[in-house]
Amino acid sequence: MIEVTGLIKRYGAFTAVRELSFTVRPGEVLGLVGPNGAGKTTTLRCLAGIIPATAGAVRIAGQDLTADPVAAKRALAFFPDEPRLFDYLTVRQHLAFVARIYGVAHHEALAQPLLEELEIADKADQLPGELSRGMKQKLAIACGLLHSPAVMFFDEPLTGLDPLGIRRMKDSILKRARAGATVVLSSHLLHLLEEVCSHVLILKKGEKIADGTLGDVSARFANGEANVSLEEIFIRATGGTES
Ligand SMILES: Nc1ncnc2c1ncn2[C@@H]1O[C@H](COP(=O)(O)OP(=O)(O)OP(=O)(O)O)[C@@H](O)[C@H]1O
Ligand SMILES: [Mg+2]
Repeated sequence: MIEVTGLIKRYGAFTAVRELSFTVRPGEVLGLVGPNGAGKTTTLRCLAGIIPATAGAVRIAGQDLTADPVAAKRALAFFPDEPRLFDYLTVRQHLAFVARIYGVAHHEALAQPLLEELEIADKADQLPGELSRGMKQKLAIACGLLHSPAVMFFDEPLTGLDPLGIRRMKDSILKRARAGATVVLSSHLLHLLEEVCSHVLILKKGEKIADGTLGDVSARFANGEANVSLEEIFIRATGGTES
């Protein structure tokens, strides 16, 4: 469960996120969408406790992110758009390191199936410098999934993956949501979001334009038309005069 109330983020005098409130329940996958600079990455970083919010409250799996950041962070994983890896640790050593930080017991038994699920098992003894961009992304994903987080934040998780990798990633996200995980993901690949998300939140200039189930948000901007794509909804919601 993710509960966000009145989240504000300012960078100096500039307000990137304005009074954002929403809730995501276990099993739900929320697509965070909006034009470049709308505040998606900023929001995700605040929710993951990577940067401090200027105001507002965030609860992750019932834990207040400000009052008890360690408990909240134990329950979550953040997958950034630009994965940061350790140059001198192999794929397998990354997982061992993350396991130690999060206190994951018997991590070898968990790491191997994860590497296989993400199709980098044959690179287990390679360093990041020897991996392709997509493989680095997959390693970062494996590291984030190792402690079985209840709450997951993905910033552009599908960019850089090949078509099969995208399908596997979608399946992987859906599998965890069905098992009770709470997921928020930002992406510009709206046709792919439609296949993964149960809910959508549209941001524009740091402000929430709409949120709800995919069906509800679509209905609001569809003007009575049937089968309007999320891409069309996005353009109507963020480009037009509709508020
Ligand atoms: N560290 C920072 N200092 C100052 N301004 C920032 C900083 N990070 C982001 N911003 C500004 O905050 C706004 C939101 O940026 P953010 O990266 O959250 O957008 P985004 O929705 O993720 O965009 P994109 O789709 O391009 O990834 C932008 O106007 C950006 O210039
Ligand atoms: Mg971004």
